[in-house]
Amino acid sequence: MVRLVQVSASYQPAATTASVAATGCVLDNISFHIEKGESVAIIGANGAGKTSLFLALAGILPLTHGAIFIDGIALSKRAIKSIRRKIGFVFQNPDDQLFMSRVYDDILFGLLNMGISEEDAQSRAQEALAKLGVGHLAGRSPFRLSGGEKRLCALAATLVMEPEIVFFDEPTAFLDPKSQRMASAVIQALPLTKLIATHDLAFARTLCDRALILRSGSLVADGDPATLFDDAENMSRWGL
Ligand SMILES: Nc1ncnc2c1ncn2[C@@H]1O[C@H](COP(=O)(O)OP(=O)(O)O)[C@@H](O)[C@H]1O
Ligand SMILES: [Mg+2]
Repeated sequence: MVRLVQVSASYQPAATTASVAATGCVLDNISFHIEKGESVAIIGANGAGKTSLFLALAGILPLTHGAIFIDGIALSKRAIKSIRRKIGFVFQNPDDQLFMSRVYDDILFGLLNMGISEEDAQSRAQEALAKLGVGHLAGRSPFRLSGGEKRLCALAATLVMEPEIVFFDEPTAFLDPKSQRMASAVIQALPLTKLIATHDLAFARTLCDRALILRSGSLVADGDPATLFDDAENMSRWGL
């Protein structure tokens, strides 16, 4: 479903980097394959490259080497539109995702952009908000919601698009314990392919069948979360 083959990427434009390795890649020769329906944690210290990996998967951060395949299709300029229809993102900061004056309009935005009729879009938007228990917030301004409420509304905005794969960037960040539990229950119940970047090891243990560990842009481990996290010596070597 998601395949990376020797992926390297850098924030410097490739033309100015004769030797990318010397200038430091933000992703360094990463390969992995995630099957349909897997729930995979992306673990790494601050600056390890988790968000950059998601930007590469979204086709926003260009690769300097290697290839990404989503559902068997190589991520390229030509394919990006059809690939984006299959994937959803939940940003680290919901303020980057909710920007209209009413929550409801944020939920409708993507659907209307996709050319769905107003009537269908409205019923899908209401359904998505209700599913996450935030139907009552539809008319509110996203800027006046609590962190937990915002997170759930941002999740609704992503899920209403019915993605097959969802990338979550630190979905429990900025949340109090109760909202964390709520967001994690919602994410756990989603029958989708999930990649979840997180610092929260307890959360990764419960929600994920597998963990990928990044350190300075390299993939240093790939395996069962409990086995990896209980290995204190390696965890400290990885800065975790
Ligand atoms: N827009 C950017 N331009 C240049 N460097 C960046 C940019 N965004 C992130 N970086 C660098 O890339 C590295 C990985 O960052 P990031 O992917 O955000 O890590 P994480 O999400 O794991 O905290 C860091 O060294 C960071 O400073
Ligand atoms: Mg990040």
